[in-house]
Order: sequence, then structure tokens, then C-alpha cells
Amino acid sequence: MDSTLLEDAVRDFLEQKRIAVAGVSRSKDQAANAIYKKLRASGYRVFAVNPKTESVEGDACYPSLSAIPAGVDGVVIATHPDAAPDVVRECTELGIGRVWMHRSFGRGSVSSEAVALCREHDIRVIPGACPMMYCAPVDGGHRCMRWLLGVFGGLTKAAAALLLLGSTGLLFGACRQAAPEVPAEDLARAQAELLPFKEQMLDALTTSLEAGPANAISVCRERAPEIAAALSVDGVEMGRTSHRLRNPKNAPPPWAEPLLAAYLEDPAREGPMAVYIDESTIGYVEPIRAVSFCLSCHGPAVEPELLEEIRSLYPEDRATEFRTGDLRGLFWLTMPS
Ligand code: HEC
Repeated sequence: MDSTLLEDAVRDFLEQKRIAVAGVSRSKDQAANAIYKKLRASGYRVFAVNPKTESVEGDACYPSLSAIPAGVDGVVIATHPDAAPDVVRECTELGIGRVWMHRSFGRGSVSSEAVALCREHDIRVIPGACPMMYCAPVDGGHRCMRWLLGVFGGLTKAAAALLLLGSTGLLFGACRQAAPEVPAEDLARAQAELLPFKEQMLDALTTSLEAGPANAISVCRERAPEIAAALSVDGVEMGRTSHRLRNPKNAPPPWAEPLLAAYLEDPAREGPMAVYIDESTIGYVEPIRAVSFCLSCHGPAVEPELLEEIRSLYPEDRATEFRTGDLRGLFWLTMPS
């Protein structure tokens, strides 16, 4: 889905007042229950749906969507994915035009059949993701909690959070327990995998700077991807990215966007972060801070001749005006878990 469409769909969903949550259950540690409580606490009129029980979280529970008096504007599907198509079928019968399929770690409730059904019947569907998946890791996730409160605390803030996190840092949280932390030994493994990339990049930059900055440009341009490619073996991939790019090809991978946002939001944040991208892949990042030596090509006073060359190679360059200590970007790495 196009990212703006997705953002619109999320905003539209959160503007509704009456929301059903399918999949809430008596076993309280379900993601569905957490979502239910979060929405309830945020002032939404929420309705729990589960044919197997009559009350959950101290409220009445409805056996089906059609049993909800006066209906709902949208449905969060937090059931097993196999149950999702039936919930969508009920939506089509009742004319409910908005569906959010929850997804946290792993497969969540997203079913491709259910998504196709939604599209067929003009239901606005959010084949969702869980932000906890992106940000629960190393720091224990308080940024996430803050962010979630922002999302549900008011629409302006929700819009801001969306913009901040970018389209892909998508929503639905409240499912913290579903996002496992990346174990310390995997962090250490990622760190070790990344080290040669960092070393070789620095080495290449410094040696070529000796031959004049114009040469170093070719290092950044050609050697960086070569070094990354040479080290990307056995399912490991790595690269550099930034919030202010020189080369648009270095745009952050979707999973890294919220992490980049986290470093930007909190300038004091140091050290790596890691997340599960899916059940079998870990994403790892380390912040890159500008040191004085970087400023000859990324600083506020790049030599005119050099700047001209940079601008001719990178017409969309946004990677100047950095100062010592600024976040220049991230090293990122993905590897099998
Ligand atoms: C001689 C000029 C030069 C110097 C010095 C230099 N860079 Fe770059 N940098 C570049 C160029 C050119 C690119 C674009 C490379 C490409 O096409 O992938 C780049 C790209 C990057 C990127 C990738 C994201 C993006 O904007 O495309 C990062 C991160 C980065 N530089 C960080 C640094 C850091 C940190 C230092 C100092 C240690 C540094 N650079 C020093 C020229 C330079």
C-alpha cells in the first residue's frame, strides 16, 4: 500500500468513536486485550467480540459484530489469522467500512484472504504492524509507551507520531508483551559482524582523503557499497543510512525508520538498538556521529569546488550543515536470528 494511503487509513481509523476488537479473551495476556484496554482508556467506545465468552476485562463481550447494539465504525482484528476472513465477511454484511488487522511479532492476525476480501468490498484495511516490534528492544521500550500514549491521546499527536515514525513505523501497540527483546548474545554477534564494515569504511576514507577530498568522494561512492557487499554473506546484510541523505539509495530500510527516529528524538541516546524484523531476522543499528574529519564533505563550510562536485553527483544532496557530534546517520545490519 502507498504510504500516504496507509497513513490516511490509520488517521481515519483513529478518528472513529466506536470500535470493536475481535479476539479479546479471558486469558488476559493476549495482545487483543491490551489493545482493548488501551482504546478504552483513551476514550473510545470499545466493544469486545468473542463468541466463547460473555464478559472480558470487566465489560460485556459480544458473540459477533452484529450483536453490538448500534454497531461500530471500525474493527480491530486481533484474532488468529484463520478467523480473520470470517470477521471481514461480517463487516461486509453489516457495512462496516474500516478494518485494522493487528500484527505484532510474527504473523499476528493478518490473513491475505481477509485483506483481499476487504479490498474487494471497499473496506479500508490496515494490514497492520506493531510498533513494539520495532522499538521494544534494548531500551526496554519506554519511548514506545510514550509514543503510544501520543497515538491514542489525541489526533494531532497521532498525526505527529505517524509523521515522526514514517509510514512504515506503523502502529498498533499495546502489545508490548508480544515483542521479545533481542538477546544480548545476538547483540554482540551483530556488533561483531558490523565491526569490519566500520573499520574498512574509516580506513578507506582516511587513506583516500590523503589524496585529496575529491578522491575520497569516489571512496564514499564506490567503495562503501563494495565493502558492504563483500561483507554481506551468510544472510547478513549491512549498509549506511541517514535522515539527511546524500545518496537517496541509502534511504533507511523500513524497519530502521523508527529506530532512526528514536535517535533523533533523544539526542542523548547512545549505543546500538536491535529489533526482530520477523521471526527469523534481527535488525541492528548503531548511530554514526559526525567527527571533525567528516565536515570537509558534510559540514557547513564545504570547499566550493568540492561542493560543486558533490552537487553534480548528488543533485538531491541534503547531507551538509552537519556539526561535530551531530547524528550523521546509522550503520544498519540484518542477520538471521
Ligand atoms: C570526501 C568527502 C566525504 C567525507 C570526508 C565523508 N563523507 Fe560521508 N559521504 C560522502 C559521499 C560522496 C556520500 C554518498 C555515498 C554514496 O553514494 O553512497 C556519503 C555518504 C555518507 C553516508 C550515507 C548516507 C547518505 O547520506 O547517503 C553516511 C552515513 C556518511 N557519509 C557519513 C560520513 C561520516 C560519519 C564521515 C566522517 C567519518 C564522512 N561521511 C566523511 C562524502 C564524504
